[in-house]
Amino acid sequence: MKFFLSKLKQVWILNFFRRIFNASKYYNGKYLQILKWGISSKEDTNFSYELTDSNLLDLANVIEVVTKKDFGLILSYLKEAINDTNLKNHVIAETKKSKFVKYADLRCDFAKRLGWYAFVRLLKPKIVVETGVDKGLGSVLLCAALLKNKEEGFTGKYFGTDINPEAGYLMTGIYKSVGNILYGDSISSLSNFKDPIDLFINDSDHSATYEYNEYLTIKPFLTEKAIILGDNSHATDKLGVFSREHGRNYLFFSEKPKNHWYPGGGIGISFSK
Ligand SMILES: C[S@@+](CC[C@H](N)C(=O)[O-])C[C@H]1O[C@@H](n2cnc3c(N)ncnc32)[C@H](O)[C@@H]1O
Repeated sequence: MKFFLSKLKQVWILNFFRRIFNASKYYNGKYLQILKWGISSKEDTNFSYELTDSNLLDLANVIEVVTKKDFGLILSYLKEAINDTNLKNHVIAETKKSKFVKYADLRCDFAKRLGWYAFVRLLKPKIVVETGVDKGLGSVLLCAALLKNKEEGFTGKYFGTDINPEAGYLMTGIYKSVGNILYGDSISSLSNFKDPIDLFINDSDHSATYEYNEYLTIKPFLTEKAIILGDNSHATDKLGVFSREHGRNYLFFSEKPKNHWYPGGGIGISFSK
C-alpha cells in the first residue's frame, strides 16, 4: 500500500487531486452547516452560537493571564452567565415582541461576550462603556454582571453608544436600571463623556481608522487599571498597535463557535503593564 501511494504521488495530476481532497476535508462540513443554517435560521448578521467546551476553557485561561484571578472563579463567572435563565428568558421575550423578530432566532447565546461578562464580574468596574449596541445583547449581559456586582455591594454603570436610533431593543426592565444608551455617533458621544472609564468595549463602526480613533478618544478617560476589549481584533491590528504605542499589554482570544459555520471573531484585550 505504501509503495502504491508513493508511486501515485509521483504522478502530478493524481497527487494534485489527493492534496485538494485532503485540504477540502477541513471545510466540507461547513457547507452542510451553511445549508442547515440557511433553512433553520433567520439571522443575517451578529450570529448566535455557543462556544465549544474547550474554547470556553481557553477563554478562562486567557482571562486568568490578564487579571491574575483564580481560574475556578473565572470559570464560575462564565457559567453564571450561561446559566442565567432570567436573562435568557428576557432576551427571548423581548425578541418576540420586537419588530425585528423576522430577522432573529428565538435563542440566546452570548459566545465571546461571556468574556466581557467575566471581566465585569472580576474587576467590579464603576463605569463600563460599550460602543455599538445593535439589539443590545452585549448591553443586557454587561448590565446583568453589574447587577450581580451590586448584590455584592459594588455599584457600577453601563453606557452604550449607537448611531442607530432603533438600537437597543433588549435594554428594558431591570437591566435598564444600571445602563443607558447614548444615541449618535460614538466618537461624538465619547468626546463629551466625563466619567473615568474602567472597562471599554469597542464594537461600533468596524473600519480600522474609526476603531483606532475610538481608542484615542477614550485614552484620557481611562483609569489606571482600565481594560480595553476590542471586538474587531480578528479583523484589524488597531488595538494591538494602540497598546504598543501607549505602553500597554495586548492579547487576543480567538473564538471557536460550536455547530456553526461562522469562523468566529475574538476578543482583543489591552491591559496595563
Ligand atoms: C456589531 S454591532 C454591535 C453588536 C453589539 N455590541 C452586541 O454585543 O451584540 C455594531 C453596531 O454599531 C453601530 N454603529 C456603526 N457605526 C457607528 C458609529 N459611528 N457610532 C455609533 N454606533 C455605530 C451599528 O448601528 C450597530 O448597531
